[in-house]
Amino acid sequence: MTLPRRAEAPAALALPETEAKREFAFSDADFRKLAELAYRHTGISLSASKRDLVYNRLSRRLRALELTTFREYHEYLEGPQGHQETERFINSVSTNHTRFFRESHHFVHFRTHVAARFAHTNHGSGGGRLRIWSAGCSTGEEPYTIAMVLKKEIAAVARHNVRILATDIDTEVLAKSQRGEYAASSLQEIPPEYRDFFAAKPRASGGEAVVVDDALRSLITFRQLNLIEPQWPMKGPFDAVFCRNVMIYFDNPTKKDLVERLTKLVRSGGWLYIGHSESLIGTHPGLELVGRTIYRREP
Ligand SMILES: C[S@@+](CC[C@H](N)C(=O)[O-])C[C@H]1O[C@@H](n2cnc3c(N)ncnc32)[C@H](O)[C@@H]1O
Repeated sequence: MTLPRRAEAPAALALPETEAKREFAFSDADFRKLAELAYRHTGISLSASKRDLVYNRLSRRLRALELTTFREYHEYLEGPQGHQETERFINSVSTNHTRFFRESHHFVHFRTHVAARFAHTNHGSGGGRLRIWSAGCSTGEEPYTIAMVLKKEIAAVARHNVRILATDIDTEVLAKSQRGEYAASSLQEIPPEYRDFFAAKPRASGGEAVVVDDALRSLITFRQLNLIEPQWPMKGPFDAVFCRNVMIYFDNPTKKDLVERLTKLVRSGGWLYIGHSESLIGTHPGLELVGRTIYRREP
């Protein structure tokens, strides 16, 4: 069968559709420069397949700064005013997709091995210490999920020394985490027995949002932290660390280094949860794989 021919410009003359429609000049060299800056500031490794994504996410920055080419943008970033813009650049290149109870098998494990065990050990007494870290917490669904499980499992959790540290490099998502306000449709991600931790809140713009209970919020400390910084301010040890769907954006040396540093902050016998597509490469001294993407720090 012969297919009808479409009237087209000869291939050699036609620009790729995306290039033809582009508002800002964006060369391969510009992409390479921005990818290098992203890597230097965040550890995020942007392959050539992310070119369009970078263009789309940064275009609004060019408009805001009234620049007309990406070359001007990276020159601006490296110039005297670049420091302030770097934060916005980082916020734009980070990918923040998340949801409540994401990879729910982690929370089944966490409920049994961390929350219920703590409740059992500290039954009838106050003051038990428990430390959890959500590293790369994005808009907060992960630390609030951890808080829901702890609150449900541990009676009078406030009588104990229970804290969740939630960190991210991206200041915009951290601000959203702290607000604890989500689209009402997010409740669908949450098992019914946990939905009481949210209250409906009408939105000024119409529609309805939900806000998290203060009892959850008060368990969490939100902080900006770049995981590739050579020094972290906290000393640990943590009973469990969630670092999920963060390393997926890092190259192998960055990933290996991060896992080693995280491992040192997990207490002996504690847990490290990583994302489903981030299985650790090679062996990591001190870590034992005990379940799907669940590691135990060897005693
Ligand atoms: C895809 S989200 C994962 C959120 C959550 N952990 C989950 O699994 O649903 C990845 C988060 O890692 C953060 N991130 C990327 N590079 C980082 C770095 N160098 N230091 C700290 N956070 C980083 C991003 O800002 C983003 O919010």
